[in-house]
Amino acid sequence: MTESVAPGPAGSYPPIEGPPSRSWYRLTEEIRACRRCPLGSRRQHAVTYRGGGRPWLVFVGEAPGSREDREGRPFVGRGGRLLDRAIEIVGLREGEYGILNVLKCRPPKNRFDARAALTCRPYLDRQLRILSPTSLVTLGRHALRAMDPSAPPITQAAGVPRTRPAGPPVFPLLHPAASLRSRVMASRWHSDVRRLEEWIAERRPQST
Ligand code: URA
Repeated sequence: MTESVAPGPAGSYPPIEGPPSRSWYRLTEEIRACRRCPLGSRRQHAVTYRGGGRPWLVFVGEAPGSREDREGRPFVGRGGRLLDRAIEIVGLREGEYGILNVLKCRPPKNRFDARAALTCRPYLDRQLRILSPTSLVTLGRHALRAMDPSAPPITQAAGVPRTRPAGPPVFPLLHPAASLRSRVMASRWHSDVRRLEEWIAERRPQST
């Protein structure tokens, strides 16, 4: 169910990626039709998921940017290229992983909207329940906060795996776009990605 998709006009959506189940399709269509918060009326596309149908690892990003809003797929812009490069480095194969965001619609000025995140939260929880990954990688501080509210600040947390009282463990990464901000951040991103590579090697299920 993973297909690469050319951008369509606003309102026309790429094919649904992910588990080939009725509950997943229904959920995706529900998100695509959602108008529960003001972001829903400003967007071109709701952005749901890209990746495999049975991922053991899921990347949780923060919110779609302009390119994602245009195409209706997560991490297809500049941050996406950095993420895809990291995915190559850590040796994840197609089908092993999935990518989604806390917010399904692009916030104005790309500023994370905590109020919208509360409204959107049930979608994230339902997506994760259906995908049921055994490992999560958060991208950026808002994603980390969403998955592990007791985590320390991102610069402290990044690169160190975290167990949680409920749900799969989380490996926090900086947001990939942060690595573009300075050489220090770029080098931190790369060293954290190397640590992620080790964590993945430890956690990869036998059958993949
Ligand atoms: N940044 C995110 O957090 N998510 C995207 O989908 C793109 C950029």
